[in-house]
Amino acid sequence: MSTKGQGLALRDTAQKGQARPAEHVAIIMDGNGRWATQRGWPRLVGHRKGAERVKEIVRCAPDLGIRWLTVYAFSTENWKRSTEEVVGLMSIFARYIEREADRLAAEGVRMRFIGDRTPLNPKLRRLMDGIEARTAPFNRLNLTVAINYGGRDELTRAMRAMAADVAAGRLAPEAITDALISARLDTADLPDPDLVIRTSGETRTSNYLLWQTAYAEYEFTPTLWPDFSPAELAQIVARFGNRERRFGGVVSA
Ligand code: IPE
Ligand code: IPE
Ligand code: MG
Repeated sequence: MSTKGQGLALRDTAQKGQARPAEHVAIIMDGNGRWATQRGWPRLVGHRKGAERVKEIVRCAPDLGIRWLTVYAFSTENWKRSTEEVVGLMSIFARYIEREADRLAAEGVRMRFIGDRTPLNPKLRRLMDGIEARTAPFNRLNLTVAINYGGRDELTRAMRAMAADVAAGRLAPEAITDALISARLDTADLPDPDLVIRTSGETRTSNYLLWQTAYAEYEFTPTLWPDFSPAELAQIVARFGNRERRFGGVVSA
């Protein structure tokens, strides 16, 4: 099938019975290590394959009605892994930005990062700042990558900054509202996710978008991230369309 034909077929699957599309999809891309280990390969091979999957998912997302895609690439807890794995992951992130920059710009994708950048190496930080600036004019798809991200760390940083403002007399405690807290998080420019998908069969959030997912729907799939396909994403997005979201209220008959 042609790329365009594939896109149309995916859109048909995604929109089946859909009342409201999943505009913001957040993904916990898990299972790279197991995918490689099952084949007797080093874990980094799984991470490289995982990065290839990200490219495919980014390419198909707009066809599925997705306008915001936020992916978890490295958590604040992932520093516990071996130096080899951590260094390897950082170089995969750098290579992804270098190699994908032209394509992202050509496809109208705006790329952002969330998480604490201060401990990342300067070369990676320069690449991150550069691609954010270069793709800032685009909005066909908003791709956000979480690197050294943790929901608790993000809230801690925001609370410290607000406490400093209160102490300096710049912020009144009564001015701290739900909306103000949202605006102080790394995700200030993003809407809350509608749908969170975790691959690899684990059914936990692992510190992802704790504040932002208050009313998100969750989908867990046993598929390991390197095997996750645009077709499976289309099915999950279609299921989301059939869910009844109540936001604490009562749905009238
Ligand atoms: C997810 O895959 C990617 C990162 C956390 C960086 P894992 O590396 O966690 O893969 P498993 O869970 O060990 O299979
Ligand atoms: C969550 O996966 C983080 C990312 C996908 C980047 P982990 O594999 O690190 O999570 P746990 O350790 O299973 O909770
Ligand atoms: Mg894992």
